[in-house]
Amino acid sequence: MASTISVVLILLWTISLVQPHVPQPAGVQVFPPVNFTLTVSALARVLLHWKPNPNQEQKNYTIRYDVKILSPVPKEYDTKKTYSIQTVALHDGFSAHIRTLLLHNDLEMRSAWVKAKLPPPPGAPETSVTNLSCVTHITLSSTVALRCTWLPGPGAPKDTKYFLFYRYETSTEECQDYSKDEWNRNTECSFATTQIDPEGIDNDIVIHVNGSSKYAAIKPFQQLFNQNAIEKVNVPRNVTVFLEQNDLLATWEKPMSLFRKECFEYEFYLFNLKSRNKQILKISSNEFRLQIDVTSRYSIQIRANHHICCTRGFWSDWTESIYVGPKKLENPIAWILTVLCVFTCCTFLLVAMICKINHVWSKLFPPVPTPSNKFRDPFPNEYERARTCTSETETEFGSFTEDLTCSVLDDSVF
Ligand SMILES: *[C@@H]1O[C@H](CO)[C@@H](O)[C@H](O)[C@H]1NC(C)=O
Ligand SMILES: *[C@@H]1O[C@H](CO)[C@@H](O)[C@H](O)[C@H]1NC(C)=O
Ligand SMILES: *[C@@H]1O[C@H](CO)[C@@H](O)[C@H](O)[C@H]1NC(C)=O
Repeated sequence: MASTISVVLILLWTISLVQPHVPQPAGVQVFPPVNFTLTVSALARVLLHWKPNPNQEQKNYTIRYDVKILSPVPKEYDTKKTYSIQTVALHDGFSAHIRTLLLHNDLEMRSAWVKAKLPPPPGAPETSVTNLSCVTHITLSSTVALRCTWLPGPGAPKDTKYFLFYRYETSTEECQDYSKDEWNRNTECSFATTQIDPEGIDNDIVIHVNGSSKYAAIKPFQQLFNQNAIEKVNVPRNVTVFLEQNDLLATWEKPMSLFRKECFEYEFYLFNLKSRNKQILKISSNEFRLQIDVTSRYSIQIRANHHICCTRGFWSDWTESIYVGPKKLENPIAWILTVLCVFTCCTFLLVAMICKINHVWSKLFPPVPTPSNKFRDPFPNEYERARTCTSETETEFGSFTEDLTCSVLDDSVF
């Protein structure tokens, strides 16, 4: 077994050694392309451009070009065009090789490589921004808002002023709305609206941050963000939850977005307020049915993300809690009001009873001059107050106190 593998390996090794020396048809030469240039045509966009070698014999041959990008992100491909466009962060420069490929039947001939290089833009070390992060969201008017934050480079002087630009396809815009750190350096930028296509699928948003300072050249920084990966999805809308026998039924609508409803997935958060059990369920439709313990009260929240039609973004915020199940008295204000109402009624009753005892007392002992007048006034007021209470006990107390008041008044008047 081991020997078979080594034979195969030796064979592969021999082939790879032999390959560069593919036999060439007699008299045919392959010349490298000429005038290979690199041009920055927009932020983080480089145009590679070359010309076929004028000495290259083209009759009966297919000519293609091998492109090998060395930095910043290694990549190899071939093309029959004489140009190629790459979108990549250019703050550390760019370098690439190309060569001619001559194809004839099964034969493939390659020229030598030609190289081209873009130097990194000038700037003092550690002056470029770090920890750049960006988030987008779809606004009510179906445009895309963009917000980016960053940290000033550790080597950036205190007077550094950073500027942020974004490019989306052919649109480039400079930020107009910055937030600043304690040294008055810009560290955050917001675009309330951008040229970013809200229906775009996995396009790149290029962010370019450069700067200026009196004391140092500030090195620019670029980063590419996948448009869908940095989208903070909006919350699901119109959530309704109800109980059907032992089942909890929930329905909702997709978040505000131009993507179809099939593009979204949801997380359903179910919290049992009695047992304190938490559950998070992944759901890919807009409705949900689950058997629950009907004696418990639940709180429910939902959040959304897109994922089926494009790259997953940032999860939306959770929706407001919705409660289902048997209700305990949970509103503290209603509770306090009820207690207050009962307390008032009881106090009133007590006062009424004290009055009654007083009255009996005054009958047992020589009469005090017209004690009844003291009590005639407060009772209608107290009665009015008691009537304003809204709890169930109010009517009972009301009618009881009414009798009491009447009898007290009767007694005192007659
Ligand atoms: C390459 O560039 C040189 C100088 O810029 C020019 O003279 C020459 O014609 C170009 N060659 C081709 C094939 O275009
Ligand atoms: C900035 O990024 C670095 C490396 O990614 C990380 O270690 C550091 O914690 C980040 N700083 C802040 C303040 O987020
Ligand atoms: C920052 O970059 C923009 C866009 O490339 C450019 O127009 C501007 O002059 C640059 N500013 C500085 C201070 O380098």
